[in-house]
Amino acid sequence: MQQLDLFYEGKAKKIYHTDDPDLIIIHFKDDASAFNGIKKARIKNKGIINNEISEIIFQELAKENISSHFIKRLNDRDMLAKKLDIIPLEIVVRNVISGSMAKRLNLKEGEVINNTIYELCLKNDKLGDPLLNRHHAVALHLATYEDLDKMMEETIKINQALKKLFDSVNITLVDFKIEFGKDKDGNIILADEISPDSCRLWDKTTKEILDKDRFRRDLGDVIQAYQQVLERLKNRK
Ligand code: TMP
Repeated sequence: MQQLDLFYEGKAKKIYHTDDPDLIIIHFKDDASAFNGIKKARIKNKGIINNEISEIIFQELAKENISSHFIKRLNDRDMLAKKLDIIPLEIVVRNVISGSMAKRLNLKEGEVINNTIYELCLKNDKLGDPLLNRHHAVALHLATYEDLDKMMEETIKINQALKKLFDSVNITLVDFKIEFGKDKDGNIILADEISPDSCRLWDKTTKEILDKDRFRRDLGDVIQAYQQVLERLKNRK
């Protein structure tokens, strides 16, 4: 298997074609951005850590029969994955109030929500990834109602599995964002990465923030927090 041309470069990743039309290589960069690209920095070794955390998480999800695009980690920064047609929607799952939801509705951060909240957002940085509902998504031809039902079904299972995984390492899964794509047979499959870039993770005991909010909110020790998440996941029993 050979790496071919770069066909997409995002804020934190580069994606390459391979000589197999069904496979891509995802290269994890150290670049970080927040507030739709307004704040930028390079965080040394972030890409290496996120590649490894994503591997652990996708493998854990596979054990729970949740399929993803992940095939294998090739080296410290590259992951081999299934080529998908990405559905331009982001699903945000919230178990605890934080971030944009706290801001938008003037709520106190940290309150545990009894019913999990699932948000649908348009994947569009220029518009600030606006919230929309399933009817908007269908009207904009982004997905069908059947696609959205399948995405929801998978999302519920993913949240259960991730909560269990992080719970086992004394971390609260506050919220996270996921994306889906379709494979060549039309199956809806989990895509992208799952890492401290795309999740809010708080130490259960101390409430210490162990995710990208350390960068967004200038809390310092960003890479140390990511490293801690990785070490806890690697050392879990
Ligand atoms: P939010 O509170 O800013 O809406 O973010 C909710 C969660 O989703 C948080 O864990 C960060 C993650 N997220 C991304 O990874 N990428 C995005 O573009 C957005 C809007 C959120």
